[in-house]
Amino acid sequence: MGKPHAVIFDLDGVIVDTAKHHFQAWKQLADELGFNFTEEDNERLKGVSRMDSLNILLEIGGLNKSESEKQELAARKNKRYVEAISVMDESEILPGVLRFLQELKEHNIPYALGSASKNAPLILKQIGLYEKFNAIVDGNSISKAKPDPEVFLRGAEELSVTPGNCVVFEDAQSGIEAGKAAGMYVVGVGDSAVLAGADDYIRTMEEMTVSRLEK
Ligand code: BG6
Ligand code: MG
Repeated sequence: MGKPHAVIFDLDGVIVDTAKHHFQAWKQLADELGFNFTEEDNERLKGVSRMDSLNILLEIGGLNKSESEKQELAARKNKRYVEAISVMDESEILPGVLRFLQELKEHNIPYALGSASKNAPLILKQIGLYEKFNAIVDGNSISKAKPDPEVFLRGAEELSVTPGNCVVFEDAQSGIEAGKAAGMYVVGVGDSAVLAGADDYIRTMEEMTVSRLEK
């Protein structure tokens, strides 16, 4: 794609492995509601907003809940999730991330966060990366969830870069679609057999370099 003018990172599953904490919190809620929730089910919640995730969970359990009950359930899940992420530290940053961020800095390539999570600021502070991002766009500041491109377009805007010169890193199908809809070059992080539509794929950030993007 040529040298990128900016990079936008998804958070959960790209910078940190928080999926396990989301899974534990949703599973506990499912247990309390009286049905089983598996790791395979949890795949459907990746990249999906909190309320949409709850709706999928309730669909799996075959349950109907009122709006106020849903608010209570989502708050209960989030309270436990926040307890789990409140003890995270920099040791949970995924392999290759710090090295790649350093490389971007050396090349003067700014980078932003583009996450669906309302807990993104807390997580970034816990792992010591909050100050390093040139812009943070998260679930608190967007109105349309991925696969809508809003989160990434806002990131490009905040970095004053045209979308076509941005690279997105995403581990979720909805996020890859959002990045492509934004007109960006998308790198899928994970299994290319599971993630469709990205321009390139890596298993972990350890495989990524600026020169790979330049090619
Ligand atoms: C995404 C995660 O980054 O954020 C989803 O992949 C999660 O699993 C979503 O549901 C919303 O997170 P939060 O922290 O606002 O509940
Ligand atoms: Mg993700």
